[in-house]
Amino acid sequence: MKSDLKESGSVTITRNGESFDFPVYKAGEGPDVFDIRKLYAMTGAFTFDPGFTSTASCESKITFIDGDRGILLYRGYPIDQLADNSDFLEVAYLLLKGDLPQGKDREDFRSAITRHTMVHEQLKMFYSGFRRDAHPMAIMVGVVGALAAFYHDSTDITDPKQRLIATHRMIAKMPTIAAMAYKYSTGQAFVFPRNDLDYTSNFMRMCFAVGAEDYVINPVLSSALDKIFILHMDHEQNASTSTVRLAGSSGANPFACIAAGIASLWGPAHGGANEAALNMLEEIGTVDRIPEFINRAKDKNDPFRLMGFGHRVYKNYDPRATVMRKACHEVLDELGIKDEPLLQVAMELERIALEDEYFIEKKLYPNIDFYSGITLRALGFPTDMFTVLFAVARTVGWIAQWSEMIEDPLQKIGRPRQIYTGAPKRDYVSTDER
Ligand code: SDX
Repeated sequence: MKSDLKESGSVTITRNGESFDFPVYKAGEGPDVFDIRKLYAMTGAFTFDPGFTSTASCESKITFIDGDRGILLYRGYPIDQLADNSDFLEVAYLLLKGDLPQGKDREDFRSAITRHTMVHEQLKMFYSGFRRDAHPMAIMVGVVGALAAFYHDSTDITDPKQRLIATHRMIAKMPTIAAMAYKYSTGQAFVFPRNDLDYTSNFMRMCFAVGAEDYVINPVLSSALDKIFILHMDHEQNASTSTVRLAGSSGANPFACIAAGIASLWGPAHGGANEAALNMLEEIGTVDRIPEFINRAKDKNDPFRLMGFGHRVYKNYDPRATVMRKACHEVLDELGIKDEPLLQVAMELERIALEDEYFIEKKLYPNIDFYSGITLRALGFPTDMFTVLFAVARTVGWIAQWSEMIEDPLQKIGRPRQIYTGAPKRDYVSTDER
């Protein structure tokens, strides 16, 4: 990646009568940054930013989010235009390469991914070591981390050819590994990928086909899931992507980095929110119980939060939630479940929350996870597979951000500092003197 940092003036910090100047870089889009890399050397002090609410960890050209205006761009293209007009592999190409494919690009990329969709036969043995009721995210962390034990020819991160093969392998094998985790939980046999199907139809068939009867692909449902995958592909420096970047900054192989990303995504405050949001809607159950849960969400003494609501960056409607809600209605209409009770609860909960002073003042809006659970369950996936599907899609963003980090001339091992408020130096006291 070529660095495009453009200096635009400076900022001054004054402390104890001494002034220190730091360069300002102008962003292409969004907030400018203060370059404080020399702050500690010049002032002997650190910045303090738990949760990195005001910290840019890197320069990136992949995804731009404007939280106040509810804008999300993948390489400059608005997410709703990509969701409505593109497909998974074309958007994956865009995120990886920086532009939409032209001419033979698309077929070459599709062929490169298709040729890597199968997994080593011995990888299947990992599954039999898990309990059948293991959470599929636990299986994903374990199996994906173990890929490094099978693909020694694509773990040297200094070799661009090996990085490219690892990138193709990760994108290609995630649906196969995810479908195997689902099949294992059902006691059904694993289903091989097929080279004649598109990415998302292939995944749905690996999940829902059985030995005695193939799966008839419904193009409306497959296209809806493809759209959902596009929405989940990347999202700037979120917790799991930052985890992948930090793991990769030490030179760890890409399979281990993606496994670290899966682990971080699992949390209910992050990718686990789609599973938590559906569980919440089921707990609410009926429209008349909504006020009770709204009050709990507002009660400082109650740890309950409205899952699928709120966002670190979006202080407006998450543009993905708008597309997701449309996909939800498309799927429910196609399946003839217009009166899905949970959808009624979700829509009424959204209406009430968006009129409530607390949510308005704190700028809490539905995020991508609010409608995804209802949609994924209607597509036939069990609740504990929702975050797995998020991980399948986000693997494209993780690997694109990992590649950008490796190629970034400013990249170095990530090693934050701290403010220490623990015990001062003291001498050891033997047991009989304590
Ligand atoms: C994803 O980062 C990404 O980009 C993530 C993601 C991606 O694509 O990678 O977009 C995917 O993770 C979406 C978010 C999914 N998580 C949830 O839906 C879980 C519920 N949401 C919250 O946990 C929360 O909103 C977060 C974690 C998403 C954001 O938390 P922040 O930015 O740390 O905000 P905060 O916790 O400081 O909240 C600000 C205030 C707080 O009140 P005060 O302390 O100021 O009084 O808003 C309140 C919070 O208590 N608040 C909520 C709330 N979310 C925030 N109150 C009730 N219900 C909620 N959902």
